[in-house]
Amino acid sequence: MKRFCFAAVLIVAVATLIKPVFPREPEITSAPIPQDIHSYSNPTQARVKHVDLDLDVLFDRKVLRGTVVLELERSNPSRAQELILDTRNLKITKAETSANGRRFTATTFNVGQSDKILGAPLTINLPPRATRVRVTYETSPQASGVQWLAPSQTAGKKFPFLFTQAQAIHARSFIPLQDSPAVRVTYAARIRTPKDLVAVMSAENDPTTARDGDYTFRMRQQIPAYLIALAVGDLAFRPLGARTGVYAEPSVVERAAKEFEDTERMVSATEELYGSYRWGRYDILVLPPSFPFGGMENPRLTFATPTILAGDKSLTSLIAHELAHSWSGNLVTNATWRDFWLNEGFTVYVERRIVEKVYGRAREEMEALLGKRELTDELAKLDARDQILHVDLKGRDPDDGFTNVPYEKGYLFLRHLEETFGRERFDPFLRSYFDRFAFRSITTEDFVNYLKANLLDKNLQLAARVQLQEWIEGTGLRADAPQAASDAFTKVEAQATAFSQSGTPARTLQTTNWTTQEWLHFLRSLPAQLDASKMAELDAAFNLTRSGNSEIAFQWLLMSIRNNYTAAYPRLEEFLTTVGRRKFVRPLFDELVKTPQGRERALMIYRKARPGYHPITSATVDQIVKWNEQGGE
Ligand code: BES
Ligand code: ZN
Repeated sequence: MKRFCFAAVLIVAVATLIKPVFPREPEITSAPIPQDIHSYSNPTQARVKHVDLDLDVLFDRKVLRGTVVLELERSNPSRAQELILDTRNLKITKAETSANGRRFTATTFNVGQSDKILGAPLTINLPPRATRVRVTYETSPQASGVQWLAPSQTAGKKFPFLFTQAQAIHARSFIPLQDSPAVRVTYAARIRTPKDLVAVMSAENDPTTARDGDYTFRMRQQIPAYLIALAVGDLAFRPLGARTGVYAEPSVVERAAKEFEDTERMVSATEELYGSYRWGRYDILVLPPSFPFGGMENPRLTFATPTILAGDKSLTSLIAHELAHSWSGNLVTNATWRDFWLNEGFTVYVERRIVEKVYGRAREEMEALLGKRELTDELAKLDARDQILHVDLKGRDPDDGFTNVPYEKGYLFLRHLEETFGRERFDPFLRSYFDRFAFRSITTEDFVNYLKANLLDKNLQLAARVQLQEWIEGTGLRADAPQAASDAFTKVEAQATAFSQSGTPARTLQTTNWTTQEWLHFLRSLPAQLDASKMAELDAAFNLTRSGNSEIAFQWLLMSIRNNYTAAYPRLEEFLTTVGRRKFVRPLFDELVKTPQGRERALMIYRKARPGYHPITSATVDQIVKWNEQGGE
C-alpha cells in the first residue's frame, strides 16, 4: 500500500515537472466561449484580444474609411489557419498579417454570402506565426450601426453629426471583428474628422483636447464589441462632479448639466451598494433627437436621448439605468443575446435601487408599478416564446427580443429574490456576483449555478419559495410576482375615476404637485375610449398637447390617436418628425395604422419623417406601415 502511494506521488510529481517542458496544446487562457448563433466568428480557434482602429470620418460620402488591426490569441496555429470575422455591408480592400505588429504582408481573404440578419463572414488566411491581422476597409453610407445627420437634424443647425449604435449586432457594420458579446477586447483608436468637430468614444476621452480634427482614444478594460462607440459633432463639455460630466451641442449643454446634476450622487450610491465603479470616469453624451434609444450604456460615456431633458429631473432614472450597466452588462456581460435578460433585468433592478437611494422609495415604487403595468399589457400580446426570460432567438434578429420581458420580468424575478431572502442576504449576494464575474461574459446557466451555490443552497427553507425554473424558462408572469405599493398612485386612480365616471370637471381634480410618474399613471388609468369633449376638457385644463415632457406628450398623443382627438394632430406630426426614439415612434405608428384614415395620416407623416430616422427606427416603422424601398408605400 505504502509503495503504491509512493509510486502515485512520484507519477504526479513527474507529470507536473514535465508539463511545462512538453505543454499540450497552448490553451486559450480566457473563459470558455459558448456557441453564439449571431456570429460567424471562430473565437475558440483564434480569439481577438485587442482592436486598433484608424479611421477617417468622411461626412461628404457618409463613409468611415481606414484600417483596423486585430491582435489575436490562437489555440493551435498549425491547425486553425483562418480567422473568421463578422461584417455587414463593408467594402474590404486589403487583408494583411503580421507576426510582430511592425511588418505586415498581404494575405488572401474571402467575403462569404450575406445573410439578412447576420451579414457576411470575412475569412482571412492566417500563416502559422501571424498574431495580428490588418484589414483596410470602408463602411457603407447605409451601415446599420451608423447614423449620419445633416446639420438640420442637430440643435445648432450648422454642423453635421455622426454617431454609432453597435448593440446588438451592428458593430460589424462599421468594424470587421468578432461581433459576439462573449469576446472581450481592449481597444485603441485614432479618428480624423473635419477640423471644427470633436470626436468622442466609449473610452478615455480628454475633455480639454485641442479641436484639431485628430483624436486618439484608449479603452484599457476588456469589453464586448457592442460597447465600442463613436460620436462626432459640434460638442461642448461641462463637468458635473469630480469624475462625471456631460457632452452635448453648445446650445444644449447647460440644460443637460442642470438636468443631470445628480449623476455624481448616483455613482456614489451604486458604489455603496455594489462596490467600486471600475471604469474611471462616467460621462454622458446627449445626442440629437433621432437617437433611436433612450440611452445606451457605452462604457465611460453613456449615450442619451435629449427627450429626457424634461427640465425637472423627472426622467433621470434613465441615467440611473445606463449607469447601472457599468455593473450589470458592462462588467458582467450576457455571453449571447439569449442571455440579454442578465444585462437588462439586473440593470432595471440596480436602476431602481439607485432611484430609491437618490430620490426615495416613493418614486421607486411608482416606477416599478409603471413598469409592471407595461409588462402585463405587453405579455397579453406577445407570442409565448417571447414571454420567456431565457428567450430562444434561433433564426431571428436579436433586436426582436427587445421587449419589456428581459427588462421588467427580469426585474421582478430579482425583486422576488430580494423579498424572499431579505436585503441582508440578497445585497451581499449580488455584490459578490459582480465581483466573481467582473470583466467576464456569462450565460444564464452560469448565473443559475452561482445563484444556487451562493444563495439558494445556503438558505434551503427560503429557497423552497422560489420557482426558479419557471421564472427563467416559463411564459407569462407568476401570481407571486412582487407587487409594489404606492399610496400616491391610489390617489391618482381615484382622480381618474372621478373624472371618467363621476363627472368631476378636469379643472377641479386634485393634481397639485403631481410628478411626471403620477401624470403618466393618471393618463394610463383613464378608459381607453374617451370622447372628444372629454379629451378637449383635459387638454384645456392641463395643456397636455403642449407638454414639454416627452413621456407625458407621448402618452397623450397615443390617447389622441385612439380617440381621434384632431386638435393634437399637428403636435403628433411635429413629434414624429423630430423624435426618432423607437420606444415612442413605434407605438404611435402602431396605433395610427389601426384605422384606414389613421394609415393615411401615418404615411403622410412617415414620408416626411423617414429621411431623418435612424436605420433601426425606420426598419421598425417600414414593417408597421408596409413601406417598400421602390414605391415608398
Ligand atoms: N442597452 C439598452 C439599449 C439597447 C438594447 C440597444 C438592445 C440595442 C439593443 C439600454 O440600456 C436601454 O435599455 N435603454 C432603454 C432605457 C431604459 C431606461 C429602459 C431605452 O433606450 O429605452
Ligand atoms: Zn439597459
